[in-house]
Amino acid sequence: MIFETHAHYEDKAFDEDREELLKSLPENGIEYVVNVGSEFETLDRILEIAGRYPFCYAAVGIHPGSTDKMDEEKFALLKEKAKHPKTVAIGEIGLDYYWDGPDRSTQKFWFEKQMELARELALPMIIHSRDAANDTYELMKAAHAEEIGAIIHCFGYGVEQARQYLNMGFYLGIGGVVTFTNGRKLKEVVEYAPLEQLVLETDCPYLAPVPNRGKRNSSLNLPYVAQEIARIKNVPYEKVLEITYNNAKKFYKLED
Ligand code: NI
Repeated sequence: MIFETHAHYEDKAFDEDREELLKSLPENGIEYVVNVGSEFETLDRILEIAGRYPFCYAAVGIHPGSTDKMDEEKFALLKEKAKHPKTVAIGEIGLDYYWDGPDRSTQKFWFEKQMELARELALPMIIHSRDAANDTYELMKAAHAEEIGAIIHCFGYGVEQARQYLNMGFYLGIGGVVTFTNGRKLKEVVEYAPLEQLVLETDCPYLAPVPNRGKRNSSLNLPYVAQEIARIKNVPYEKVLEITYNNAKKFYKLED
């Protein structure tokens, strides 16, 4: 039982073999997949995948890097897509100061607006935050995000920031980076964080774990991530799968 909490199977990297690959996931132990939105233009494809495969769900949202292309009209449409029966979260939303743009005030505007939407629709959030630890934390605190719920996806900060987010009750999304030899900071975070607040993710097609680093990623690589978490925390592999699976089901409100 593996819960893939963050994938991008709508990406053109999967155009050649999307159907074949998705069909193969359940027989390889991947029981749930959440495909996460990043730009407005691909949201329909994510919902279409969710409609076609019973184990696929959708998160709709605008990545901070795409916020300069947003307007009120698109936001109204986004809201409708968020009401789709298979939409389980708003994401990925947040702040990214690594790149030159969009400018920070634009990113903040749409981050706040999408947090409000998440609250209004009672959907949890998937947060993308890069080189923006303080602003992300401050905006989430101001929005009382602890009442909404969030996964801090592809967690890239240190133990001190992890502590702040964990104290607010958020989950940390752990992916391929934890297997990298230069992933020491994330290994420390995984050691520190309770297993009850970790979830597994690929962010595929990106960030394939060792031994497939650099290749196209897919949910089939999640066992490598879980094995590394098990090693770091010195717990059985099956326990990592079970607890992270339960965490994700609870987070996305998919309890049976
Ligand atoms: Ni992503």
